[in-house]
Amino acid sequence: MAVDRIFKDEASEEKGERARMASFIGAMAIADLVKTTLGPKGMDKILQSTGRGREVTVTNDGATILKSLHIDNPAAKVLVDISKVQDDEVGDGTTSVVVLAGELLREAEKLVNAKIHPMTIISGYRMAAECARDVLSQRVVDNKENAEKFKSDLMKIAKTTLSSKILSQDKEHFAQLAVDAVMRLKGSTNLESIQIIKKPGGSLMDSFLDEGFILDKKIGIGQPKRIENAKILVANTAMDTDKVKIYGARVRVDSMSKVAEIEVAEKEKMREKVQKIIAHGINCFINRQLIYNFPEELFADAGILAIEHADFEGIERLALVTGGEIASTFDNPESVKVGHCKLIEEIMIGEDRLIHFSGCELGQACTIVLRGASHHVLDEAERSLHDALCVLSQTVNDSRVLLGGGWPEMIMAKEVDELARKTPGKKSHAIEAFSKALLAIPTIIADNAGLDSAEMVAKLRAEHHKEGCTAGIDVISGSVGDMAELGISEAFKVKQAVLLSATEAAEMILRVDEIITCAPRRREDRM
Ligand SMILES: Nc1ncnc2c1ncn2[C@@H]1O[C@H](COP(=O)(O)OP(=O)(O)OP(=O)(O)O)[C@@H](O)[C@H]1O
Ligand SMILES: [Mg+2]
Repeated sequence: MAVDRIFKDEASEEKGERARMASFIGAMAIADLVKTTLGPKGMDKILQSTGRGREVTVTNDGATILKSLHIDNPAAKVLVDISKVQDDEVGDGTTSVVVLAGELLREAEKLVNAKIHPMTIISGYRMAAECARDVLSQRVVDNKENAEKFKSDLMKIAKTTLSSKILSQDKEHFAQLAVDAVMRLKGSTNLESIQIIKKPGGSLMDSFLDEGFILDKKIGIGQPKRIENAKILVANTAMDTDKVKIYGARVRVDSMSKVAEIEVAEKEKMREKVQKIIAHGINCFINRQLIYNFPEELFADAGILAIEHADFEGIERLALVTGGEIASTFDNPESVKVGHCKLIEEIMIGEDRLIHFSGCELGQACTIVLRGASHHVLDEAERSLHDALCVLSQTVNDSRVLLGGGWPEMIMAKEVDELARKTPGKKSHAIEAFSKALLAIPTIIADNAGLDSAEMVAKLRAEHHKEGCTAGIDVISGSVGDMAELGISEAFKVKQAVLLSATEAAEMILRVDEIITCAPRRREDRM
């Protein structure tokens, strides 16, 4: 019997050359897809969902584009995954990592066609990656000791990150916002305490940073509009009387007056609950769920500000920044941690009223209010700002900085190329290929900016022949420029993550010699 009969009918397999081709093609197609978004002059993509609402997203962020694709090719999925990991780990470089992995595979394909075994390629790539990382870590600048210089480094990094995004026009303003917000964190990488609120209207330049926390809710009628020295109880509990929650419960009565009695009993229960809550000695109560009229009245009578239906993320953040805990039972006031802040007041942003908490327990808490023409602009602005915040918070901990604009790739390519010349054996072809793949990044940045990439990269290579060269691609003037002078910097952590993840992903895909597709296991098989 033929060997392929070991699989059931639904399963199929692709072997050897075919399997490798399928994965190369899939991975390269994904890389080519996001390639045009790379660099400050990269284009954006519109993602339209075919589902209900036909939601539209306009974005330049590699991870966002790839996350929304439904992909059938397993190798392509690996690349989508590294881009996601890059987004979670360092926030930026999500396009670069996929493009570099794609280029590594493109070069590998040529070598495989020239009959070099994938394992040889892999070991060459490993040596090359090691060498590239070494040269990167030798050329870093670390200004941790000098606060002034370090802050200017942070500004430069923020500006470089934002320059490829929608915020590039106002990058000075937003870089300042991001640096201020991250400096408040004092070294923590927990971005939870930086809240981003999006309010359509105004222009992007009207966005601002606010000390404290803003909750997108209105203060109810008859309740205090301003509270000083607030004691806040954050809760997630049912505050509704007028509906019976147990489905199928049936109450038989023989007259209308009995119905009234039930209502009274329910009201009494709610009154008790409210009393218990008030007994915590609070002056502000924020609930995840609805607060119905009757309990709201009771709170208003007691002079307590009651806010209902706060969104889940909202109350978690609020509990975090005010130093409280989310409560759902109120029998033991001692065991409930109540949050504190100096002042709660109503503020206006554009046409909307919101509630502002200032002087929070957690001093680093702050809110960035984004203004912009439409929801799409605001969503993309948030993603871009998120990239910048992520990179900055990582840089505060690891303050090593590199230049950008294709400079890191050029120095890596040069060093790797030299290594290739020194290495005997077939591996040297793979190492040389690695250097070529690295050069693809400046090439693509130049291409996307409408420049003559072949000429630019050749010029750059010549420049980089000198020791300690700081040349890179200046897309604004369209020529080779001094990156140190132009202030284009990038975080070492981002570049290192790009290099290592891309190499690992390429290696993983290269190792494949068989793709087996199986239908999900049936139920009866499990028994
Ligand atoms: N002003 C500039 N001049 C030249 N190159 C720049 C400039 N600003 C940024 N770059 C380069 O552009 C590249 C980053 O592009 P981009 O931000 O589009 O992709 P990414 O960071 O890999 O992915 P994403 O931002 O989508 O997560 C980096 O290599 C960076 O050095
Ligand atoms: Mg970027």
